[in-house]
Amino acid sequence: MSATEVKSAPAEPEVKPDFSCPDLVVFEPRTYGDWRDEFHKNGCVVIKNVISPERAQYYREKQIQWLKNFELGFDENDESTWTADHLPVSFKGGMYFAYGSPHERMSWEARTEPAVIEIFERLWETKELICSFDGMNISMPRRKDVRWSPWPHCDQNPERKGMQAVQGLLNYAPNGPKDGGLMLMKGSAKLFDEFFAYKRESFDHEDAPPPEIKFMDLFLFSEKDVKWFQERGCELVKVNMEPGDFVLWDSRTMHYACLPEGDQIRHVQYICMTPRRFATPETLELKRECFENYTGTTHWPHWYVSVPGLVRYDTNDVLSNVRPAKEKPMRDGKVCPKDRSEPFEKPVVTDTVLRLAGVKAY
Ligand SMILES: [Fe+2]
Repeated sequence: MSATEVKSAPAEPEVKPDFSCPDLVVFEPRTYGDWRDEFHKNGCVVIKNVISPERAQYYREKQIQWLKNFELGFDENDESTWTADHLPVSFKGGMYFAYGSPHERMSWEARTEPAVIEIFERLWETKELICSFDGMNISMPRRKDVRWSPWPHCDQNPERKGMQAVQGLLNYAPNGPKDGGLMLMKGSAKLFDEFFAYKRESFDHEDAPPPEIKFMDLFLFSEKDVKWFQERGCELVKVNMEPGDFVLWDSRTMHYACLPEGDQIRHVQYICMTPRRFATPETLELKRECFENYTGTTHWPHWYVSVPGLVRYDTNDVLSNVRPAKEKPMRDGKVCPKDRSEPFEKPVVTDTVLRLAGVKAY
């Protein structure tokens, strides 16, 4: 999601959506003998060495070059340039969704790393996958010009039942205790239905998206909610990773990203894939438009929501969780002069790319 401004609120739909839907997939209890055992137990898992350290370094260099391409004076070796003035506009101090970044060649290269695709193939037990058009995270440590506070949240609508989406990130830089990064509430996915059996209000966090931007699949937790999960045995952990590691978590899991406080720049690409069969024809059409226009989306590769009488939403897409990130990056109340509608380096459009984008059938 991006913290940007919207000029006018889209009209309320006349028919309220019904978020409830059957489990999209049922995993029978069994032993896999690999990382899936831990994933199904805790709702999250780190998978080691998915790409080589050399490949991770390639992506780090690509991300640094991407920041430099904006010609705002950013220098990775000069900490005085690690400020908003010298960087493209980001969310929470380093998440990039605008400027066509979800479709940069490096982002598609990461999504199509064979070992990355294999993770999702194993998880969902199908080779017919589609991906989200997620952003990346490049966070400079010790930023003094960024106001930051934890924002524990989950990315699944409380009314959706079962595991319907899984999120992931490919980590490029050494990421230890002081290097910021992903916080996960281990075990919280399993308590999702119990927590939301009661009426819960999404926390009014300072970084919550404005009400006009309707994320169907975002719930922000309060400190009291965090304690609720901890009292039931869940553990809030900082995920430490080495370059090339991948972390996967059920979208019902409470999580947030911390800013780094050490010396290391955080380099991450968010990557999510779900079975193509989860997507409706309208979703696939919307994905094609996003792909062709270099538009980003949320973490959700597919869309499942029943809205009686509704075929699809277009431009405002307020009820689609394949939500086109069309908001312009805003700088000092104006559209960033460096805004752009296409990547600096366009992706090499292979069959794998087109299939993951949902454009080409399997
Ligand atoms: Fe999230």
